[in-house]
Amino acid sequence: MIRKCLFPVAGYGTRFLPATKSMPKEMLPIVNKPLVQYGVEEAVEAGLDNVTFVTGRGKRAIADHFDISYELEHQIAGTSKEQYLEGIRYLINNVNFSFTRQNNMLGLGHAILTGEPLIGDEAFGVVLADDLCVGGEHDGVLAQMVKLYKQFRCSIVAIQEVPEDEVHKYGVIAGESMMEGLYRVTDMVEKPAKEDAPSNLAIIGRYILTPDIFDKIRETPPGANGEVQITDAILRQAQEGCVLAYKFKGRRFDCGSVDGFVEATNFVYENIYKAS
Ligand code: UTP
Repeated sequence: MIRKCLFPVAGYGTRFLPATKSMPKEMLPIVNKPLVQYGVEEAVEAGLDNVTFVTGRGKRAIADHFDISYELEHQIAGTSKEQYLEGIRYLINNVNFSFTRQNNMLGLGHAILTGEPLIGDEAFGVVLADDLCVGGEHDGVLAQMVKLYKQFRCSIVAIQEVPEDEVHKYGVIAGESMMEGLYRVTDMVEKPAKEDAPSNLAIIGRYILTPDIFDKIRETPPGANGEVQITDAILRQAQEGCVLAYKFKGRRFDCGSVDGFVEATNFVYENIYKAS
């Protein structure tokens, strides 16, 4: 079964400068919890309790977050403030964390390939923590995808419908409908112009990938900007085998953009934080 989840967190987060000059984008808080913790909680809910981070320079705060802070623990031991650490303590005690570093930020495909030694020859989840996903009354998005993987045993990308004038920001799929909300991918285009987009079904930051993806990434030449796109490698998998695209149940916020970040903050404050 799927036990491992890869978090590529090496990107520069330039859209959040200057906040991300010396702080990882993934540590920006949505209300009182850093973005990356929401992602790890979603992975754990899906049964993925081996979490690997592909980090880079300036990202040490992520490793520190998922470790004990003895001084702080000592300071608040026995006070009511301990409750604030319950969630993160649970993760520290129940998740096996590992870290590797991407020395050159050569794109998401390259970041995923950097994780290969820690993933090995098994299917794994990928979470881009700047996409915050909430399942609402449904399971978390990754848990929904793990269920599908058990049935179909192939790579799966999460998709959502986006307005036509936003397709240029995403990888976009063409697919044959298999059942409500599930497509067999026939084509994928990275950041197409509106008129070239095969659909308005955009790939978001949740994937389940079978381990042959690593060879496909190695076979993928870098694009014009020198970055290795994961979309190209997944398209190869789709052409040679099968890749599914799943219209997940729930909501997703693009917290890599300021607008999405503010929207997520308001949503979490009203619907999760206040209710807890
Ligand atoms: P983004 O496209 O959001 O890039 O990467 P970014 O650098 O994080 O942010 P901006 O655009 O400069 O504001 C998508 C995901 O892929 C990871 C990022 O950390 C993010 O989670 N990534 C991207 C890497 O780990 N390595 C890379 O070389 C590129």
